[in-house]
Amino acid sequence: MTAMVTRACDIVLLGPPGAGKGTQAKRLAAAFELLHVSTGDLLRDEIARRTELGSEAKAFMVKGELVPDELVGKMLMGLLHSQAASGGCVYDGYPRTTAQAALLDGVLAELARRIDAVLFIGVPDEVIISRMDGRRSCSECGAVFHLTGNPPRQDGVCDACGGALGQREDDRAEVVVERLRVYRHYTQPLLDLYRHRGNLTEVDGLGGVDEVFGRLRAALESCRR
Ligand code: AP5
Repeated sequence: MTAMVTRACDIVLLGPPGAGKGTQAKRLAAAFELLHVSTGDLLRDEIARRTELGSEAKAFMVKGELVPDELVGKMLMGLLHSQAASGGCVYDGYPRTTAQAALLDGVLAELARRIDAVLFIGVPDEVIISRMDGRRSCSECGAVFHLTGNPPRQDGVCDACGGALGQREDDRAEVVVERLRVYRHYTQPLLDLYRHRGNLTEVDGLGGVDEVFGRLRAALESCRR
């Protein structure tokens, strides 16, 4: 009898704000039985729970700036070493700086793992702006919709839990401009880093949610356990 080989699989999703990372990360995590690790969601949860870390992070997030690497790293360390993450993760919004990329490499090396794939979701600026402008998130469970691209069944009401849908504070036009600037300055250079390592796949983020998911899934077939 042949023993079934299972191994952890770690996937980084990169892309500009509003590209669809969160939407696709949830689906990939479900399809490949991985933990969805969204630093944006974790930080918003810290803010909602009024923790000290949340209040420090909020001051940066409302302006569209990055939360300092040390704060984000502190928040993530326990999670990455936890049993929940032992089968591998889809990282959504992490890493965002070269220092964060080095930290993730280090943690995975300690766990005898490595980044298996980096997927970049490419979307032109005009589509990014319209995706963030039309985004509505559930105040209760965090589910994400779009007014035209991925509308809820009932206006203003979450399909998943019936909670109220609202706009994210950092989706205001002036904050979006800053988030795009920050992305280009700090996060875009990671594309070269991963391209140089040979594990970057660029995926067209245009088209419907299912269509984009199909492209990502195809790019990841080699990670299936
Ligand atoms: P974070 O929440 O990570 O924001 P982001 O990276 O800017 O990404 P978004 O959440 O805006 O977009 P997304 O790509 O996930 O798109 P989504 O799937 O929602 O971070 C927020 C802030 O936290 C940062 O600015 C920073 O301050 C801080 N932070 C987080 N991580 C950090 C870190 N590591 N270090 C330091 N600071 C950190 O889709 C967008 C919309 O489009 C939705 O409405 C969706 O329904 C719709 N949509 C998606 N796909 C499609 C499609 N194919 N067709 C039509 N509509 C679509």
